[in-house]
Amino acid sequence: MSPLHVTRTFPEDATDAALRADVRHGLTATPKWLPPKWFYDARGSELFEQITELPEYYPTRAEREILAARSGEIAAASGARTLIELGSGSSEKTRYLIDALPLAAYVPVDVSESALTQAAQALIADHPGLEVHALIADFTAPLTLPATPGPRLVAFLGGTIGNLLPAERTEFLTSVRALLAPGDGLLLGTDLVKDEQVLVRAYDDAAGVTAAFNKNVLAVVDRELGADFDLDAFDHVALWDAEREWIEMRLRSRTEQTVKVPALGLAVEFAAGEELRTEVSAKFRKDKVGTELAAVGFDLTHWWTDDQDRFALSLSVAR
Ligand code: AVJ
Repeated sequence: MSPLHVTRTFPEDATDAALRADVRHGLTATPKWLPPKWFYDARGSELFEQITELPEYYPTRAEREILAARSGEIAAASGARTLIELGSGSSEKTRYLIDALPLAAYVPVDVSESALTQAAQALIADHPGLEVHALIADFTAPLTLPATPGPRLVAFLGGTIGNLLPAERTEFLTSVRALLAPGDGLLLGTDLVKDEQVLVRAYDDAAGVTAAFNKNVLAVVDRELGADFDLDAFDHVALWDAEREWIEMRLRSRTEQTVKVPALGLAVEFAAGEELRTEVSAKFRKDKVGTELAAVGFDLTHWWTDDQDRFALSLSVAR
């Protein structure tokens, strides 16, 4: 049996029902919004990789520092034989875990086929005995896991849980808990509340890479649904919502304009200065993480941060 298995539940052709429904709902709502998962076509995934190397974007480096220092402790505490990684992307930081855990199987889950298959092939080359079951799937939709040995560890790194709104987070964590047996683990990366300037700069870098990443969702809608969004007619906006403790990315229309989305028979009117929300990236405190996990059947057992307390990795056990 080949050590690489690829299963797709996320549509290959993004002109499918999910994109159409999201674009229809989001662009006819007040205020307008689009969900962040549509950033990640091949170009968007590449731009995100560039973001992770920006001087202003600290979360990737902070989390890598924790993984490098703590993967031995994580391995000892979880003893996982199957590692399931939600939103695995390039799996670059995951290598610390894969090297430390007594793994039989690795199950990376991502909507980006390009990132997923490249990462899986590179991993298999380095770990010939490892079975890799790559799932091209939206991790917020119901997942069917392959039958691989326990204990299982679900890793959700990078702070991507911050993309979910509070109610979506509860629903998501509940479904993660349902994938696991008592004693299985959840390794969760959460970016932490910090100085507003540091946070905003991380989402509005001087080189403009995050601006290009943000606008890429418009290019996806143009390509997939035949829309005529002009990327130059929108400005990138990143702001801190101090009450909700999250960063929001928006695209602000420079002028009054009408954008056509032929595949949906829509003409979308933007007022000059009107903003379209493209991403929420929530930031956390330890109490909030522990409380939200406890509410869905996890006990937080370990909490590790980087040297500068910017980012946390927590390990929780399913009750
Ligand atoms: C991949 C969701 C963790 O929210 O920091 C980076 C995405 N957006 N810059 C984040 C992102 C803008 C990133 N996550």
